[in-house]
Amino acid sequence: QITDNAIIVMLGASGDLAKKLLYPALFTLFRRDLLPKQIHIVGYARSKIDHDDFITQVSSDLKDPGDDPSFSEQLEKFKTILSYVSGSYDDGSAFDELNRYLEKIESNYSTPEHNRVFYLALPSNVFVQIAKHLKKRVYSNRGANRLVLEKPLGSDLESAQELVKGVSQFWPEEQTFRIDHYLGKEIVKNILALRFANSFTSGFWDNNHISNVQITLNESFGTEGRGGYFDSAGIIRDVIQNHLCQMLSILTMERPTSLTPKETINEKLGVKLLRAIRPVQREDVLLGQYEGYLDDSGGVPFILKAGKALDENRVEIRVQFKDNPEGLYDDDEQLCRSELIMRLKPGEAILIKLNIKSPGFDTGVIPAELKLDYKEAFPDVFIPEAYEVLLRDVLRGDHSTFVRDDELIAAWKIFTPILHWAEGKDGNKKPSPIKYAFGSRGPEGLDKFLAKFGSKD
Ligand code: BG6
Repeated sequence: QITDNAIIVMLGASGDLAKKLLYPALFTLFRRDLLPKQIHIVGYARSKIDHDDFITQVSSDLKDPGDDPSFSEQLEKFKTILSYVSGSYDDGSAFDELNRYLEKIESNYSTPEHNRVFYLALPSNVFVQIAKHLKKRVYSNRGANRLVLEKPLGSDLESAQELVKGVSQFWPEEQTFRIDHYLGKEIVKNILALRFANSFTSGFWDNNHISNVQITLNESFGTEGRGGYFDSAGIIRDVIQNHLCQMLSILTMERPTSLTPKETINEKLGVKLLRAIRPVQREDVLLGQYEGYLDDSGGVPFILKAGKALDENRVEIRVQFKDNPEGLYDDDEQLCRSELIMRLKPGEAILIKLNIKSPGFDTGVIPAELKLDYKEAFPDVFIPEAYEVLLRDVLRGDHSTFVRDDELIAAWKIFTPILHWAEGKDGNKKPSPIKYAFGSRGPEGLDKFLAKFGSKD
């Protein structure tokens, strides 16, 4: 755990991710006193901007939440820990210069340890060369070193294998932190407690009781200026292979023997489950802006849906239980399927959908919902954003919210064949996705396709 001092070097300092998510997250940690006592954030990128321009760039995205009277004062303090070094990503001497700059900062430290965190908020095709320069020229010999790699991590199985291998020549797994920001989300972190702290979930978490599980990441906006990236990435690489697959992994992992990060990681990252999933087949896919796949026959189907430009912003996990075998109310038209819903958006909530007797003289059933809304239930609790959790975990050296090397490879194995098919790289003609209107429910045939896997509304 890094507590005394650290320099966080943000490579890709002027990119969108750094500006919109990383500096705001660091600022929140700073205001809440969750960063090491001596802390510096050094931006590194190719743009030749000066110190003041960098500070202006960073602060323009730090919005006053209105609940902190000391916000402006804190912002001024935060500016004093920020600085910028411009340099290229392939020139060794630029990294030597970065190193000299960091040493100058560290020469004022009161403690002997000099810890450095390198955050690569850049496309993964430059990771290996940067990892090499950082290790050879900017590595601290007097403290902890951590390398943080942003997603997307590779673009298919082969490139991910090259990436893992390339980086590992210079950085061991204990010092490497691969980001999937969904692992830092409150509701995702809550899955383990929901599953293993309640006998009504742990007792029914199997294919005798569960009909299907749907993991949905629907966004109402389009690619919003990221069209170039999206053309080559697509929805499977953007969110399914990583965010949705991670949620699937935690939903299906075996019970860990204890809750230490090491045990939970080993169980999830034992990747037994991911390895057991057969790669997605063509018949499992409705190629519009969404994709789903079926587990082994006899298992519980997991339906992964994701799309942009849809009619709603909704991210949730829905566990649909099987119809009650006793069937006493089967003829009741209103009978619904029991469901456990973990909602990430809009508004964090845990919901249980169930049947109750229709209130009043009526003896039939109606569907009802029990809802735990986080904002209402915990109005005074600070619930950190995903990147706040992850940056803090990097400093704490906690790997449980990061993607391990073998896990990354296992996830790519599942999706690479279907990606190659969708992109016409498997020797067949490239299939055309079903077009759908901006702001609609998605491609036609969606409900029928979902029903094939047992989904029922
Ligand atoms: C990112 C994707 O990883 O996740 C984006 O690149 C997507 O396309 C985003 O919008 C969703 O994350 P969140 O935290 O906004 O739900």
